Amino acid sequence: MKGETTLAKNGEIRRVLVTGGCGFIGANFVRLVLNSRPDWQVVNLDKLTYAGNLQSLADVAAHPGYRFVRGDICDQELVESLFGEHGIDTVVHFAAESHVDRSITGPDAFIRTNIFGTFTLLETARKAWLGEKGREGGAQARFLHVSTDEVFGSLGATGYFTETTCYDPRSPYSASKASSDHLARAYFHTYGLPVLITNCSNNYGPYQFPEKLIPLVINNALQGRPLPVYGDGGNVRDWLYVLDHCEAIIRVLEQGGVGESYNIGGHNERKNLEVVELLCDILDRRVGFLPSGQPRRSLITFVRDRLGHDRRYAIDAGKIDRELGWTPRMSFSEGMEQTVAWYLENRPWLESVIDGSYREYYRNMYGGNEISDEEKQ
Ligand code: NAD
Ligand code: TYD
Repeated sequence: MKGETTLAKNGEIRRVLVTGGCGFIGANFVRLVLNSRPDWQVVNLDKLTYAGNLQSLADVAAHPGYRFVRGDICDQELVESLFGEHGIDTVVHFAAESHVDRSITGPDAFIRTNIFGTFTLLETARKAWLGEKGREGGAQARFLHVSTDEVFGSLGATGYFTETTCYDPRSPYSASKASSDHLARAYFHTYGLPVLITNCSNNYGPYQFPEKLIPLVINNALQGRPLPVYGDGGNVRDWLYVLDHCEAIIRVLEQGGVGESYNIGGHNERKNLEVVELLCDILDRRVGFLPSGQPRRSLITFVRDRLGHDRRYAIDAGKIDRELGWTPRMSFSEGMEQTVAWYLENRPWLESVIDGSYREYYRNMYGGNEISDEEKQ
């Protein structure tokens, strides 16, 4: 993989630094690239936090176009050495602290990784691609910063986020992502760094860590444990199948306009309670009722609401459709069936990522958090 630092042109090798490739979306992206882009070489830089798992890429670990490096995106020396050693001409930046609930109880890591880590990558790319004077090269290079629709804040019952919606982040997580988006955009405007930004909605699918709603519910429902629904269960998210998202990222990398941002959504707005009920029904059909004879919906437990819980997210993904011809392909019902099937077939993966620290997190998060009957009245 070592090579001179020439930048990718049509038909030439693209040398891609993927950050956070052992996380949920990153692992799906790395696998898709290795299976569909024979002329791309991937260096995966991942710190392996609680959310990163080598098992998620075990099937491609020996691929000749793949190299894994354990390390921190905030480590400038390491990042610079990877750019030099591998002639990196493309960055796809997934690495982040990504869970809103954790950002409420411990924001420090979010500020460090999401803001300072993104800055470190941008600064390294600037030095490697643009030289001291700036704006003098890097025409083939790309820095794709993966962000979230949560930077736009919370919607009421109507309306959609577009690329021109004002930023209004409301959690420590979304504020840190908004900050990193601003830095990425600033590096384009100030230095001409070839930055692209994508803001996507909630992803679901294989390899998602079971702290997020869908895998958490699948895992708990399989074990007959309570299914915690925050508040009244009426919050709305727009669910995007992870492989649709990964295809959109490749499309943006290959065809997107430098300096542009693209919203990526699933056209699948659902209330949380609907999502949880659907998962219960799919599991009942596939594995039967609980040993008690009860359907899994009986496990649904309304718990105290998340602090500052954003009510509704909804993406207008018209720009990426019009300009790059991308729309999501997976329907919500089929995507949920496939996701449940994947978790049923991959119990060892689920077991391997749920270690002692997950159990402690879960106890702290949900232990004694049910709404009492008095509070409900
Ligand atoms: P994830 O939490 O599953 O994975 C994050 C990965 O980053 C892990 O492998 C972790 O080990 C790694 N990482 C964390 N800190 C690091 C550091 N300092 N240095 C190197 N690696 C580090 O996240 P995800 O769900 O795959 O999300 C990927 C990206 O997509 C994030 O930037 C997130 O903000 C964004 N995003 C996610 C969603 C979603 O629904 N999951 C929606 C919108 C945007
Ligand atoms: P989550 O998967 O954490 O994604 P995000 O907060 O980034 O949207 O949560 C999705 C929705 O589900 C959100 O409205 C919070 C809610 N939720 C629950 O009701 N119960 C849970 O146990 C979790 C993790 C989330």
